[in-house]
Amino acid sequence: MAVYLDYAATTPVDKKIIKGMLEHSDIYGNPSSIHRIGKEAKAFLEENRQKIAEAIGAKPEEIIFTSGATESNNLAIRGTLSHFNREVNVITTEVEHMSILETVKGLKTHVKYVPIQENGLINLNELNKKIDENTALVSLHYVNNETGAIQPVKEIKESLPEDVLLHVDAAQAVGHVNVNVDDLGVDLMSMSGHKLYAPKGVGVLYIRSGTHLHAQLVGGKQERERRAGTENLLYSYAMSEAVKEAVQLKDERNSVILSRKEILIDGLNEAGVEFKVNGDL
Ligand SMILES: Cc1ncc(COP(=O)(O)O)c(C=O)c1O
Repeated sequence: MAVYLDYAATTPVDKKIIKGMLEHSDIYGNPSSIHRIGKEAKAFLEENRQKIAEAIGAKPEEIIFTSGATESNNLAIRGTLSHFNREVNVITTEVEHMSILETVKGLKTHVKYVPIQENGLINLNELNKKIDENTALVSLHYVNNETGAIQPVKEIKESLPEDVLLHVDAAQAVGHVNVNVDDLGVDLMSMSGHKLYAPKGVGVLYIRSGTHLHAQLVGGKQERERRAGTENLLYSYAMSEAVKEAVQLKDERNSVILSRKEILIDGLNEAGVEFKVNGDL
């Protein structure tokens, strides 16, 4: 029997979600079409957007569907920075997912890296020391994909000057910690469906109202002109169900994971295996 322990890389797809996608597969119109079939598709898309907004305490118009957290991170960083026509800098850490590290590396904008402490957490004093009048954006993970360290997002936001945007990569956070955007105060938040029992290839970028962001995929006027291309209706459904369930079942799923973690640690101790826990317990 195979034992799969790599849910941080990806989860299997929930059969309920597949069933729901099949049940909705007769909604096939293009949401931009103005005839009845198109309007029906548009209504379905907006219903899915609304479910996600409700789950994270956002407004529906603040939710942009993407192809995953990689695209959301690219859009958040490139999209906000390209709005500035003066010299700005961005602050991140060296322990981000490649989709943040490679994005900032490819920018003309100056990048500053805040050190991470032994326990995997960001040092707030160090972060504040890096901020200057040209800092436009702080972009970092909420939950680390390798250590599971949970960054103090609310405290980070509270420590930033009002005009500095905070983007969090919440790909590993949804379903494990509070992702209510108003509680956290974040300006942008990336999410990925395939970490939450939805198929691979769908994600969301939350963009707080009033945040200036330029589309990086250009063409049609979809997604309030922030991401061109005909919307993936069935994946928007899958994402909405996945986010809704992850938020609703957070405590239940966490207690299962915690009890398994204890079993693993106890088992290693009993077997006399030498081990070290990475990150913050
Ligand atoms: C923290 C983090 N950010 C971004 C991503 C990329 O997500 P996606 O596969 O949806 O592009 C991942 C997935 O591995 C991740 O763990």
